[in-house]
Amino acid sequence: MNSRKEIIDFFQKEGILIQPDAIEFLVANGNGINSCRTLLNEMGERPFIISSEDIKHVFEKIGEKKERAATGSRMNRVGGRKTIKKEGFRILQDVTGNSTCQGELGDFVMLFRDRFEKLGALIRKRQEMRNALPLRRVMHRDDEITTIGMVKDVIPAKNGVVVELEDSEASITAYIPKDVDPLLVVDEVIGISGKKRGDMVTVKSVVRPELPRERRKNVADEEKYVIFLSDLHVGSKSFLEKEWLRFIEWMQGKRGTEKQRDLVKKVSHIIICGDVVEGIGIYPGQENDLLVDDIYLQYEELARKLSAIPEEIAIIMQPGNHDAVRPSLPQPSFGNEITSMFEGRDVTFIGNPCYLEIDGVTILAYHGQSLQDFATSLPDMSQNRPAKIMKEMLKRRHMAPIYGGIASLAPERKDYLIIDRVPDIFVTGHVHVTAVDSYRDVILINASAWQAQTEYQRMMDFMPDPAKAVLVNLKDLSPSLIQFS
Ligand SMILES: [Fe+2]
Repeated sequence: MNSRKEIIDFFQKEGILIQPDAIEFLVANGNGINSCRTLLNEMGERPFIISSEDIKHVFEKIGEKKERAATGSRMNRVGGRKTIKKEGFRILQDVTGNSTCQGELGDFVMLFRDRFEKLGALIRKRQEMRNALPLRRVMHRDDEITTIGMVKDVIPAKNGVVVELEDSEASITAYIPKDVDPLLVVDEVIGISGKKRGDMVTVKSVVRPELPRERRKNVADEEKYVIFLSDLHVGSKSFLEKEWLRFIEWMQGKRGTEKQRDLVKKVSHIIICGDVVEGIGIYPGQENDLLVDDIYLQYEELARKLSAIPEEIAIIMQPGNHDAVRPSLPQPSFGNEITSMFEGRDVTFIGNPCYLEIDGVTILAYHGQSLQDFATSLPDMSQNRPAKIMKEMLKRRHMAPIYGGIASLAPERKDYLIIDRVPDIFVTGHVHVTAVDSYRDVILINASAWQAQTEYQRMMDFMPDPAKAVLVNLKDLSPSLIQFS
């Protein structure tokens, strides 16, 4: 394409603003109007503005797809099992090795500023929010207003709530009737439209960053399965040893129906979403529940247990609140003293949360510490129904907005809990329930635990649904569930 005008016209017709640096990038790297169309098709989520960074990301993705197609599946067979190594695997976003956290108060200011800017930009993409004004421009008006702010406070009021909305310059008070929106949590970013009179806005509509209604799903070129597990709690007296052994035998092709034995040969990755060991000193009286009371011996036992999984299967492991890493979110991955115990095995250690990609399919893996905070802050929510809460996270494009809850937040300068990319699969654990659902074409999984209910969990109202494996076929993103109890 040699005409910049042609590019501008194309995107104008699509209702999309293209930034000048993006036009230059397309002129230098594109191959005619076709590259504009391909770009839009590959973007999935329809943007309001396209930057050169967006284009580079899409071109990279296209390049990788071509490479995969050119080299075939790079699969070979070992003992009748298809082995799919890590060519199709990459980490997209992870705090591990990128932490800027000094623990200073000023860093929290940067964290919340980053959250406000990124989520505010997503809200501004929504049709009804394009004319939103900053708070300082609406705070002295008596009129219909549209603005965006972070919820500083939620106070119950008659048939609704009163919220304090703020940005970096100003704040306003707004009354949100229950029938407009009954699900406000502190520190989420929202857009509002309503009538302002005196010091109070009466809100007529609340707009969240949300997921796009339509999106092109990413799928793998061939049938290939990922297994999702969580909360193994190795080292606990309540670890479900018998059920785990059944799972291992199933993985080894020694158990299950003929169809399942065939299917298990196509498993390429196992993702374990945290609480891989029981840990020590996590809750009062935990010492009475420990089978192994040394944290390192717990990880050694875990390494032994995982070594029974066929070695062609890659294991991806992230920490949770029981693991030996910093407790605040985002959690970087395990240190060398732990990872070295798994040497010789194909294990990738990731942080919590982590965006990763397997054969083009985007997976957001998060242990799920904030599920309890949503459950206690919102009506009709329960930690025992995590998929319902995961939908609320996706609507807010944030996994843990509430500051000061059970899920503690580290003052990173960038907010790693923002759901800035739309994943194809969103997986959590933590609440020991098994759940499979979907929201706007995103597969939601709460991966099962491998621990029976402890006395402490009974007290905390955890109702486990353990010893299940959730599998997803990456070719069509269809989930299935296998029970081992
Ligand atoms: Fe757990």
